[in-house]
Amino acid sequence: MSLNIRKECCLIPYHSFRLPSTALALVEVHSAEEMAEAWHLEAFADSPKLVLGSGSNTVFVERFEGLVIVNRIMGREVLDEGSDWLVKLGAGEDWHDAVMWSLSQGISGLENLSLIPGTAGAAPVQNIGAYGMEFSDLCAYVDILDLEQGRFSRLSQDECCFGYRDSIFKGELKGRAVILGVGLRLPKQWSPRLNYGPLKELSEPSAQAIAERVMSVRREKLPDPDVLGNAGSFFKNPVVPNAVGKDLQQRHPNMPAYPAGEGQMKLAAGWLIEQSGMKGAKLDGVGVHQDQALVLVNHGEGTVEQLLALATQVVRRVSERFGVVLEPEVRLLNRQGEQCWSHYAD
Ligand code: EPU
Repeated sequence: MSLNIRKECCLIPYHSFRLPSTALALVEVHSAEEMAEAWHLEAFADSPKLVLGSGSNTVFVERFEGLVIVNRIMGREVLDEGSDWLVKLGAGEDWHDAVMWSLSQGISGLENLSLIPGTAGAAPVQNIGAYGMEFSDLCAYVDILDLEQGRFSRLSQDECCFGYRDSIFKGELKGRAVILGVGLRLPKQWSPRLNYGPLKELSEPSAQAIAERVMSVRREKLPDPDVLGNAGSFFKNPVVPNAVGKDLQQRHPNMPAYPAGEGQMKLAAGWLIEQSGMKGAKLDGVGVHQDQALVLVNHGEGTVEQLLALATQVVRRVSERFGVVLEPEVRLLNRQGEQCWSHYAD
């Protein structure tokens, strides 16, 4: 095996925001063995390392002073497990292509998660979710390389500790495991998930019809990263105690809010940003998207500095108007590959 390591690598093609940034080195790996080899390269023993899928949720705030390992482990397979289909995907598979492929095989169940940018291996990290479904609803297992034990292992759905845009890969296993592949359990007795607004109007739809509606809703509201650089929702929808949410609802009767587990409510960050007057705002080369305020975009000439300035302004405006502090959903990484938002938020 010989890995092709590229030094002083421009990261623009490796993340969907396409902001100017560089890394000390970058390597693409195509198998679990290559992943292990890249992780243990002598030349980078003391350097930070970062695994990237398609970079659809990542912003490099500073030059990355280490080795970026791009996960290109491919593979799609379906196993017949009696009452369920087990869909196995390599971590480097494009998520949306895999959804389309499973539907073309006559397998239903992934349709609500159509057109989500990113790779299959990134899906469990932030527990991707949209239109009434989350990755965790379908997850059978996640295969990992355990970096401390130096061995491959399999985590069950329970062991992944999924939450809203959260998982063990953002917590206990952060920096300690690399995702190699995922297994999805899809019952053959399929029933459509139609609880999200625009899907409710569909009557007796096929999985394909749901996928098409989801894609058209997404295309209407969300910018295509190939056309306008972005990383999807820039902020998480804030989860607040019921008392805070109810107080806000009294003052703003049109404010959307959803139950979010015991004693808590989830607010719509897009609504809060829009009501703070920031929807469509521009700051030099970056902006708040005109159709979905939760998405920040690179108009082409944007820089990381401008993006951080805009994000800080959005947080400040929402906090001043509603007393709610938004947290980024994207990974904002410093030269060591660590999350560095708190540095800017203070
Ligand atoms: N809204 C506004 N103004 C806006 C945007 C939204 O008033 O500019 C209001 C909407 O009218 C609606 C509410 O906010 O009442 C929620 O909006 P929407 O249904 O569009 O969803 P969201 O909460 O903004 C979340 C996910 C999206 C996912 C959609 C659909 C997060 C952080 N985002 O957005 O996921 O596609 O629901 O399920 O949870 C992503 O994670 O990158 C992503 C795009």
